[in-house]
Amino acid sequence: MNYDFDRVIDRRGGDSLKWNIDVNQIPMWYADADVASPPAVIAALVVRAAHGVYGYAQEPAALRKIIVERMFRLYGWHILPEDIVPVPGIIPGFNLASRAFGAPGAGVIVQAPTFYPISRDVDLYDMIAQHAPLRRFVDALHVHFAYDPIAFEAAFDDRSKIATLCHPHNPTGHVFGRDELLHMAQTCVDRKVVICSDEIHCDIRLDGGVHIPIASLSETIAHQCVTLMSPSKAFNIPGLVVGFAIIQNPELRERYVRAQSGMIPHPSAFSYAATLAAYESGDDWLVQANAYYAANRDYALAYLRQHIPQLRCTIPAATYLLWIDARELRLSCSVRDFFARNGVALGDGTPFGGESEDFVRMTLACPRSVLAQALDAMRSAFASL
Ligand SMILES: Cc1ncc(COP(=O)(O)O)c(C=O)c1O
Repeated sequence: MNYDFDRVIDRRGGDSLKWNIDVNQIPMWYADADVASPPAVIAALVVRAAHGVYGYAQEPAALRKIIVERMFRLYGWHILPEDIVPVPGIIPGFNLASRAFGAPGAGVIVQAPTFYPISRDVDLYDMIAQHAPLRRFVDALHVHFAYDPIAFEAAFDDRSKIATLCHPHNPTGHVFGRDELLHMAQTCVDRKVVICSDEIHCDIRLDGGVHIPIASLSETIAHQCVTLMSPSKAFNIPGLVVGFAIIQNPELRERYVRAQSGMIPHPSAFSYAATLAAYESGDDWLVQANAYYAANRDYALAYLRQHIPQLRCTIPAATYLLWIDARELRLSCSVRDFFARNGVALGDGTPFGGESEDFVRMTLACPRSVLAQALDAMRSAFASL
């Protein structure tokens, strides 16, 4: 079956956070896709909505089975049904890890630039961010990021309790390789630090590679890990607040579940229906969506190289996000404001940390025609300099 990712769906004026901005700007800032979810997901939601009674939901019996089967089929990772803790979204899932394993004064390892709600928790719980920035290097055309083992080891001290990881990485699209993950994990295991790994983007692979969950590397590593996953990004259902933690160490799991108590609502009937449908019947759609996003990435990279070579971009191997280094434009205002004034809303790099003030993030998950309009607007902005 072929899916129409070129179809432009009008989201202006509705309930979309991403599109509820100045009408003169094309929104490329938020990590949410402008494509319709897989038909199977839409059908499951229509059936659930037509039922008419929206009471408290019980987790469907099939859910754990399908997640266990998926982890093994896609990543060769053996987990048990009881390792799974449903959570209403990955940010709450992260926050729970901070409540469960952190404390005021505890150290949290942060590898900036990174998805910033991770570091927001650090402040929220009066913890201390211990910085292990990613290694950044540029060549003639691109900017690259990689794990820095020396900075990582140096960031720990006896206050360190949690090490955060975003894998695949938002905003750079970097996919951590087995060696990077092994070194990271071993460093945490040696210091008895809990690894909290946000793997929400694991199924958005633009170059066909296979995701390696950090917890799948060994039983010892799994014992130290909280892995957060969700169908939300891959199947474009983030507004349905879905997700789950996988915690194979029963003691960590118990602390995590206790931290949830009374604070966190259970996922809704719609979240469960969409998750099941996505995992049962959405993979054919997902393969095609990834191919479409990869072609968008290639289109954007070629366009920017030709028309604004001063911008150096990452080459994301995963996620639908492009991380753009605009330092060479030498703007006197923020990069985000410059492009916003000229008709494109990009994500401001500053909150991602790691000296990202002159970076912006661009979401590539939209119909090609919308991407082309946004790139044209960026080109006109550049011409006006
Ligand atoms: C790496 C990462 N983690 C978590 C989230 C948010 O997850 P949720 O909406 O499930 O809380 C996002 C959204 O952009 C993300 O990119």
